[in-house]
Amino acid sequence: MARSLTAMASPHLASLLPYSPGKPIEEVEREFGVAGAAKLASNENPFGPSPLAVKAIREAAAGVHRYPDGAGTVLRARLAEHLGVEAVQIALGNGSNELLDLVARIFLEPGDEAVMASPAFIVYRMACQALGASAVEVPCRDFVHDLEQMAAVVTSRTKLVFVGNPNNPTGTAVSPAALEAFVRRLPQEPLLILDEAYWEFLAEPERPRSLDWVREGRRCFVLRTFSKVYGLAGLRIGYGAGPPELIGLLDRLRAPFNVNALAQVAGAAALEDGAHVARTVAGTAAGRAALAAGLTALGFPPLSSVTNFLLVDVRRDGAAVTEALLRRGVIVRPMGGYGLPTHLRITVGTPDENARVLEALRAVLAA
Ligand SMILES: Cc1ncc(COP(=O)(O)O)c(C=O)c1O
Repeated sequence: MARSLTAMASPHLASLLPYSPGKPIEEVEREFGVAGAAKLASNENPFGPSPLAVKAIREAAAGVHRYPDGAGTVLRARLAEHLGVEAVQIALGNGSNELLDLVARIFLEPGDEAVMASPAFIVYRMACQALGASAVEVPCRDFVHDLEQMAAVVTSRTKLVFVGNPNNPTGTAVSPAALEAFVRRLPQEPLLILDEAYWEFLAEPERPRSLDWVREGRRCFVLRTFSKVYGLAGLRIGYGAGPPELIGLLDRLRAPFNVNALAQVAGAAALEDGAHVARTVAGTAAGRAALAAGLTALGFPPLSSVTNFLLVDVRRDGAAVTEALLRRGVIVRPMGGYGLPTHLRITVGTPDENARVLEALRAVLAA
């Protein structure tokens, strides 16, 4: 008898669970009979996409019968200029998530190790597990990467080191000085993946010199995304800056047209939209303060965050609270999958959305 497809699949998939994304608004509205649901579950930009990007998408729409530029030449050149690196140091991805996945596939085999924090973005661990490599997870200290310990567990089998800075789901960042010391302490061989998806939300003094390390030719791959501050999550586009040798390896493995044509023009336009970035950063900081104050007033002070989301311990089953909030049309993310069963991660929304989640939480947590 033929084996089941699961039996035929790579054995490394056996212990993997699918990534659990935030529920789509339409699904919640249908399932719970609510209108105007507030989605605060995926750290998206609640203020919308860059208007310049929307204009560029409109103008490019009539050309989508053609394949995109497979090399993303224009966007890579703009990014190189924007970041102060060479175009040969830039890779584009279908979301930075694709680059995380590709880099794991390039390097990891069974027996290899990748060092990461816990909790950190769950995709680091999933990408390793899918390849049968060992994810060496180092517990955060007070919800911040314990870089000393992470450096201490690097062995000759370590090929990748993941640092999410700022980190998801904690919303914390390491100090630039601590990261600098970590980079200097790492042995030469492993590739450091610095995931900076929320970098634009950092205040100037909190920003590490990550791109300098790329310019200096260190083994460092800096990942950023158009999904967060630029408001283009639905287009799926992210990028990385790293050694040209790494970009070449990514070119071997990636799909021929991995970044679609609309994403390419939108990304280039969004990069020029400083006003939209500034509005988003300011609106996020104000909303984060209001949300944190409201949660604290309810008796549930969140962790101090430098990002567009807050991690809060509701001191009861987070999945049950999430379900009760869904009934009130508010979508947040329970953190059980991150080993934090009583925590919720709440994205900072518009002022109305922030008021709405606080109102719903007040009702749910009082019950
Ligand atoms: C830390 C971190 N890295 C990477 C990503 C992936 O972003 P994208 O694939 O949308 O660029 C996310 C998305 O939530 C994230 O939180």
